[in-house]
Amino acid sequence: MDAPFPFGFPTATAFYLTLYVLTLVVHVVFMNYVVAGTAYLAWRSWRGPVAAGGAGDPIAEVLRDWMPFALSAAITAGVAPLLFVQILYQRPFYTANQLLFHRWMAILPVLIVGFYLLYLLKSGYARRCGPLPRGLIALGAAACFLFTGWSWTENHLLSLRESSWPRFYESGRMMHYEAALLPRLGVWMIGSLPTMAMLVGWQLHGLRRRGAAIESPALRRLAWLALVGIAGSATMCVTHDTISEGGLKDALLGPMGRPWAVLLAAGVAMQIVAWAALLRRPESCTVPLSLAAAGVLLSILGMSIAREILRIRALSVDRLFQQHEIAMGVGGWWLFVLLAIVNIGVIAWAMTLVRRGLRTAGDRTPQEFTW
Ligand code: HEM
Repeated sequence: MDAPFPFGFPTATAFYLTLYVLTLVVHVVFMNYVVAGTAYLAWRSWRGPVAAGGAGDPIAEVLRDWMPFALSAAITAGVAPLLFVQILYQRPFYTANQLLFHRWMAILPVLIVGFYLLYLLKSGYARRCGPLPRGLIALGAAACFLFTGWSWTENHLLSLRESSWPRFYESGRMMHYEAALLPRLGVWMIGSLPTMAMLVGWQLHGLRRRGAAIESPALRRLAWLALVGIAGSATMCVTHDTISEGGLKDALLGPMGRPWAVLLAAGVAMQIVAWAALLRRPESCTVPLSLAAAGVLLSILGMSIAREILRIRALSVDRLFQQHEIAMGVGGWWLFVLLAIVNIGVIAWAMTLVRRGLRTAGDRTPQEFTW
């Protein structure tokens, strides 16, 4: 295929690939906030009595307040790509789900536990108790989300290994391991830091504009976290590529991936420039944060497309083209549009209500912002 992704594919396939990748990007943005945010909360909980509660650390305070919302957003945003991935890769996707069996379904109870731990972390009880129990709650939540991320990676890798399915089934195993698993998971988990830093950066910026005292060290810390995340996920990418014998490099530098590789590189460069600028002058952050936001979106888009090219090369998608055509011929388009409009309207209304509530909240300090 010589055209850039997704143009070389039949219309139906290109349509579903585009929707899949775009909706996956939204899922990844929220998922990154949750993964990096809970890891940050776990880390900060152990650091002294003041920082432990998040009091004195506006980053921890904001994260703790918003985390249950962010988790529900990550889960809800996962539904759309879940629908599209099933249309796109039917057999491999379902087979991996079924082979992993209870192990795969375990993400549901684990996510429920994670949800409740986040509410517990936000409660007055957690504020009052010492760093050890508070740290354990945050660590428990972080472990739940790490487990969920690992499960998605494991499922994805198993879905690509068709030749190993019969042996896997015969052995009755419910876990799939291969050398690429850890670096691949590392790309996602460590790569979640820059997105979280950018989103929390905007949240702190908003609080500062409403009069809260946000000191420069908090913004500098975010910049350092983002830079560590970029360096760490780049290292994981190189490790993954070495293990997969240049697969990622080929996917990005081949005709399908080249334009997206340029955007990915631009996204990473924009982020580095933005965070370096913020480190130098944390008091003026609108421009650096805008640049970081654009960079984060380009980077996630580029990585998601590279990931898809790798999968397309590993599976023979040609045999699925006809099924994509059939799926596209099924009715319901106008019902979908109607429901999309209704839902966007409801979300916009909910956001207006929240904004109105925040406006009347006045200029409280971040510690008082417990929505
Ligand atoms: C906090 C909870 C979650 C975390 C940490 C998480 C993490 C991840 C990660 C790391 C991947 C990429 C896997 C890879 O390419 O190696 C992924 C993919 C995906 N996630 Fe999530 N996820 C979460 C919850 C969910 C939920 C609840 C849904 C569904 C409602 C979902 C839907 C998806 C889909 C559809 C994909 C793409 C799968 C594929 O293309 O094979 N995720 N997730």
